[in-house]
Amino acid sequence: MKFEIKRLTAEDIPFIIVVEKKCFSSPWSERSFKASFNSPSSLWFGAFCDGNLIGFCGAQIVAPEGEIINIAVDPQFRRNGAGEILLREMLNSCHEVAQYWFLDVRESNIAAQALYKKLGFFAAGKRIDYYTKPREDAVVMKLDLSNRRPCDADSFI
Ligand SMILES: CC(C)(COP(=O)(O)OP(=O)(O)OC[C@H]1O[C@@H](n2cnc3c(N)ncnc32)[C@H](O)[C@@H]1OP(=O)(O)O)[C@@H](O)C(=O)NCCC(=O)NCCS
Repeated sequence: MKFEIKRLTAEDIPFIIVVEKKCFSSPWSERSFKASFNSPSSLWFGAFCDGNLIGFCGAQIVAPEGEIINIAVDPQFRRNGAGEILLREMLNSCHEVAQYWFLDVRESNIAAQALYKKLGFFAAGKRIDYYTKPREDAVVMKLDLSNRRPCDADSFI
């Protein structure tokens, strides 16, 4: 399956929300997305298939740190590499400003944890009862890219 990766803007929010609602029991509200797109420190990429948004990844960058604040792929398009391409794009494109990454993930979310581990994230802590619907602990995962050199033209990961 071929995906086109593009920077997202606030104009994409209605399409992001469609995917978000299919993916989370407590989806972000339109207001939360608008606030994030209004923030100069946030960055969003989308994966498109035949011109339709099928996944996205958002990050908050405060040099030298980056936080993955949201990532999701439409259930119909999963296990085709879109999540990995989105995350790689985010980490590579921000390497100049963010080398230390972290994120929170539900303890039961094995698929997402496997994706993060594949790209080098490791479990570094826990936030008790961090999530609701259902209530669950968060695993805090980290990634240190500070010693990485590009493995091809401009890819660090
Ligand atoms: C997590 C998510 C974004 C992965 O997207 P995806 O496009 O299906 O992932 P990819 O096809 O790129 O998979 C990349 C790697 O992730 C891991 N992975 C993805 N889905 C997996 C699953 N169901 N079980 C185990 N490993 C999985 C594998 O290591 C895979 O590499 P491989 O294909 O070489 O085995 C997707 O499952 C999703 O949207 N989940 C719901 C939203 C969510 O939980 N977001 C994360 C919040 S912290």
